[in-house]
Amino acid sequence: MKIMSGNSNLPLARAIAAYLELPLTDASVRRFADEEIFVEIHENVRGEDVFIVQPTSYPVNDNLMELLIGVDALRRASAKRITAVIPYFGYARQDRKPGPRTPISAKLVANLITEAGADRVLCVDLHAGQIQGFFDIPTDNLFAAPVMAADIQARYGDQSLMVVSPDVGGVVRARSLAKRLDNAPLAIVDKRRDRPGQSEVMNIIGEVKGRACILIDDIIDSGGTLCNAAQALMDEGAASVTAYITHGVLSGAAVSRVTNSALKELVITDSILATDAARDSGKIRILTIAPLIGEAIRRIADESSVSSLFD
Ligand code: R5P
Repeated sequence: MKIMSGNSNLPLARAIAAYLELPLTDASVRRFADEEIFVEIHENVRGEDVFIVQPTSYPVNDNLMELLIGVDALRRASAKRITAVIPYFGYARQDRKPGPRTPISAKLVANLITEAGADRVLCVDLHAGQIQGFFDIPTDNLFAAPVMAADIQARYGDQSLMVVSPDVGGVVRARSLAKRLDNAPLAIVDKRRDRPGQSEVMNIIGEVKGRACILIDDIIDSGGTLCNAAQALMDEGAASVTAYITHGVLSGAAVSRVTNSALKELVITDSILATDAARDSGKIRILTIAPLIGEAIRRIADESSVSSLFD
């Protein structure tokens, strides 16, 4: 087994390799003067089971292209099996046609990764589980919920918890976390979004008064969804609101929005490399999912069960 990394999140790739007690494969990713990407693998990978770690986060197109070129290089170097490890799958939110004459970009990206030569895919908290079906190769979708649940129990386990989904679409995810928290009660923020990029909280379904609310979502991007939900929960009398979000996209003014919000704390994972602003914010804490991904890789390589990681 070999672990190779693109440039998107080297600390995560190093931590995964450390978990597996393996060195990272010696490879370099360079740019030509016109910004073309060039990947070179400096060691033999012929006949190897290779896992290439590359979340396709900002800058999404560069990181995606690096992944595709890395997979191509591995295929041409005769790797036996190539697994694209994509802890954050960019373009996942474009998983349907929002209107006529629009693309389904998540499907296009899945096609590109497959066509480049990947044999398997390993993702974490895909925006929609059915994106697995966009790939005609085996795709494992891991969940950060066990890592989050352990942290919540350790930090907030002594409080009167309420798990909250920030929108109706996230109820399944929220319910699954609530189950891990000794069947904590569930509330839902009924959100209406008038225009893309804007969100408006309308209504809270559930009694949150006096509760330590745990908001759960897959992505924080602009932060609008979360900060509005946090304010609405505080307005309804919640004791505190903490958010656990797998992918800290945090674009634009998101970090300062979170810093100035009603949130007590935002907890994200290291699926995306955090910016200095996020690390320095004082309100954002990062949980590592390197052992989770490392263990899944070990099981894929050993051909043992990945799903039992979540029993
Ligand atoms: C939407 O369906 C996702 O689950 C997130 O709620 C959304 O992407 C968050 O975006 P933002 O932070 O820009 O409100």
